[in-house]
Amino acid sequence: MENLLLLLMSVLLGLLLKIPNGNGDPGRGRAPDLEELRRLGIGNVVNVPLYSDAPLGSYDFVVVGAGAAGCTLAARLSENPQWSVFLIEAGGVENIMHQVPLMAPSLQTTASNWGYLSQPQRHACRGMPDNRCSLPRGKVLGGTSSINYMIYNRGNRRDFDGWASAGNPGWSYAEVLPYFLRSESAQLQGLEQSPYHNHSGPLSVEDVRYRSRLAHAHVRAAQEAGHPRTDYNGESQLGVSYVQATTLKGRRHSAFRAYIEPIRKQRRNLHILTLARATRLLIDEATKSAYGVELLHQGRRHRVRARKEVILSAGAFNSPQLLMLSGIGPADNLKAIGVPLVHALPVGKRLYDHMTFCWGGRNTFLSSIGGVETLTFLKVPRARTPSTQPDIELVQVAGSLASDEGTALAKGANFRQEIYDKMYKELALRQQDHFTFLIMHFAPASVGRLWLHNRNPLEWPRIDPKYFSAPEDVEYLLEGIKEAIRISKMPALQSIGARLLERPVPGCESLAFASDDYWRCSIRTLSYTLHHQVATCRMGPASDPTAVVSPQLRVHGMRRLRVVDTSIIPVPPTAHTNAAAFMIGEKAADMIRSDWS
Ligand SMILES: Cc1cc2nc3c(=O)[nH]c(=O)nc-3n(C[C@H](O)[C@H](O)[C@H](O)COP(=O)(O)OP(=O)(O)OC[C@H]3O[C@@H](n4cnc5c(N)ncnc54)[C@H](O)[C@@H]3O)c2cc1C
Ligand SMILES: *[C@@H]1O[C@H](CO)[C@@H](O)[C@H](O)[C@H]1NC(C)=O
Repeated sequence: MENLLLLLMSVLLGLLLKIPNGNGDPGRGRAPDLEELRRLGIGNVVNVPLYSDAPLGSYDFVVVGAGAAGCTLAARLSENPQWSVFLIEAGGVENIMHQVPLMAPSLQTTASNWGYLSQPQRHACRGMPDNRCSLPRGKVLGGTSSINYMIYNRGNRRDFDGWASAGNPGWSYAEVLPYFLRSESAQLQGLEQSPYHNHSGPLSVEDVRYRSRLAHAHVRAAQEAGHPRTDYNGESQLGVSYVQATTLKGRRHSAFRAYIEPIRKQRRNLHILTLARATRLLIDEATKSAYGVELLHQGRRHRVRARKEVILSAGAFNSPQLLMLSGIGPADNLKAIGVPLVHALPVGKRLYDHMTFCWGGRNTFLSSIGGVETLTFLKVPRARTPSTQPDIELVQVAGSLASDEGTALAKGANFRQEIYDKMYKELALRQQDHFTFLIMHFAPASVGRLWLHNRNPLEWPRIDPKYFSAPEDVEYLLEGIKEAIRISKMPALQSIGARLLERPVPGCESLAFASDDYWRCSIRTLSYTLHHQVATCRMGPASDPTAVVSPQLRVHGMRRLRVVDTSIIPVPPTAHTNAAAFMIGEKAADMIRSDWS
């Protein structure tokens, strides 16, 4: 029955994809007919007439990228009626599909995903064509918060205390918690009185309404294995919990829905332009000041000026790209692609991500937020981090890549057809109930890089995460797999018949099934990222040679230019990264407000 429902959803997807992404082309060179735009659903979103070659005019603040951090920042800055704000977004508007949490994985096959692939990986992604992992990113109003899995997870107290002690005053846990709270409106059963949750912020955080039998069994089994029940956003992160989701009444609550939609009709000082691609910053080289942005919209080039500041919120891949296209980056890379150097900074020199291994078990079912139901935060024997900081997270997901019969999930992950056929196809054909554990390592030693291959702003940046180049990262996942197997053997999961899917991963057949070496091979083959790329515009004091932005998020050595998104996160957090993006947007708005008033 559950499989049948998923099948219907994938048929529905086929139909929905034919609906234009809410962003029809109103025709070049003529002012948009507001009625026509309204019919297409964007009349109130795009409230700037932009159809001329003249400069777009000037605003106090120009924000590039309407993602998680960018929407938050633009909404907060425009609360001041004296300030005008211009928000530029490369993608279009969300449609009904974005709002259905179960559809999350399918969004990766749509135009709402930039669709990046990693450079070929030597030590990972062996199950993908050319060893290239898929690196999705949201390209729509709401950014990645509109296509992600909606898990709400802030991070460990020690993450932020670590940022602060690395020379970033203002970023300790005690100092960032108020910004997490400011954004949150929680509806979480049993946490009504918790000092760690707010009930009146813009972003809705809820329990997932649908919980499978498996989710309950897993929570009990994890407790039987010694993991306490916890609120992973509360006092102690370690333990097991039902997932907290960024949904409102069961629908996705993206940054756009939470921050922009409720105000867009009243805020006449906030102008948003969709389907507009920023191509470079306008910089006065003598003073190293940013004074605007050049952008492409419907095949035409425009310039928009910023009287106070330009703020890049284009995400962990595109913010560094825009800096480099504008002459701010590593001198050797800029020289190689012929971009005149404005200011040398280690943009893109570091990139961290969270790697994951999918581990299949048989039993039961369906889902709400793309199938994610429970999270368990735990320590493994080899851990060197403090006892209050988890090393591994088990994400329990109802179903697997087989749940949509190979139509979107396997393609989203860029798995080779052979992997799908050998591992998953039969599950789909037999409609066997099954579930997946994603095992995620928080603090990888592998460090990746991002650079530009040429100066064409429409080309992809080159992204090489260098997954598993540090072999110890594989060992952490191996220990995580062992703990997941131990939990699956606990009475609560045994009583519903959970067992391991004994189907060797293609390429690892020669190794004894479930031996350590077998798991190491499968980790390097079924490598799966949870898309938490950070640090490409790393925050740190001017004395830190790896830092791109200051603790005030100003680009070092430049004026009137900040980066406000997940690219500033200096080290991989003990968390998924969306909640932090909202926090960064809120905190940046406060810093900018106090600087200019
Ligand atoms: C598939 C997937 C699932 C995930 N699941 C979770 C999860 O469950 N929980 C969680 O916490 N995190 C999750 N994450 C990560 C999290 O969603 C992101 O880290 C976070 O949303 C990033 O926020 P941001 O503001 O830094 O950037 P984004 O939200 O990516 O925003 C950047 C915006 O800038 C726009 N842009 C980029 N370049 C340009 C340009 N040149 N001109 C104009 N606009 C531009 C983009 O289109 C985009 O809208 C997931 C990520 C992915 C990809
Ligand atoms: C809750 O959110 C609102 C709106 O952002 C904010 O004004 C309030 O201070 C927050 N409350 C707490 C306890 O942080």
